[in-house]
Amino acid sequence: MKNLILLGPPGAGKGTIAKRLAAELGYLHLSTGDILREEVARGSELGKKAKAYMDAGELVPDELILAMVKERVAGKDGILFDGFPRTLAQARGLEEIAPVQLVLLLELDRDTVVRRLSARRVCPQCGALYNLITSPPKEDERCDSCGEKLIQREDDRPEVIARRFQVYMRDSVPLVDYYQGKGILVRLDAARPPGEVYAAALHAIGDDRP
Ligand code: AP5
Repeated sequence: MKNLILLGPPGAGKGTIAKRLAAELGYLHLSTGDILREEVARGSELGKKAKAYMDAGELVPDELILAMVKERVAGKDGILFDGFPRTLAQARGLEEIAPVQLVLLLELDRDTVVRRLSARRVCPQCGALYNLITSPPKEDERCDSCGEKLIQREDDRPEVIARRFQVYMRDSVPLVDYYQGKGILVRLDAARPPGEVYAAALHAIGDDRP
């Protein structure tokens, strides 16, 4: 199976698509944001180092991220990188770790990013994603799957969302040219409804099915 990257601004829907591709096609979903949040929750050394950066909407240093990714992907394929790489240094570091055959760029404007992230809720128990506007839970702010009370991510406060978007424009947008130059970038309109974005992602992946 191919190794894929999901690139795009905060809130573009990378996690939403990645969870479905992993469930339906068997990709290994590797979200650096999810791993870091687990490390913070466990109070590990990495989590302690990462927390202040994450709370402020800044990037965790490249060397910490590359070491974290390397230990999780050794010898595997069919990896779906979600939220990684985020800098040119990470992209170059990834080349030493695993080949990448396709980069899906989820394009979304800043106003939609702010609207979506302000309404995002997550299940702290099973990780299910909701949106109070576009995909609300059936029962008031409780997870449809496990019934747990939904929470809002610490970094989904308006001032942190704004900073995350700025950081994306400064550090991650150069990756668009980088992967376009390699001829492996496909652009998707992430403003369309989730089912349509997913269908476009499947089309771009082609027949890489188990
Ligand atoms: P991370 O967790 O990776 O956050 P992010 O990239 O900012 O992305 P999000 O998880 O916010 O959004 P998403 O694109 O996955 O959207 P989602 O599917 O949830 O990183 C967090 C922090 O960790 C960073 O700020 C940094 O500090 C650190 N970090 C992580 N990786 C790092 C790295 N490589 N290097 C350095 N630091 C790193 O959808 C959002 C909402 O929209 C949901 O409510 C969803 O239901 C809804 N939605 C999704 N798709 C649609 C649609 N098509 N239409 C309508 N609503 C939709």
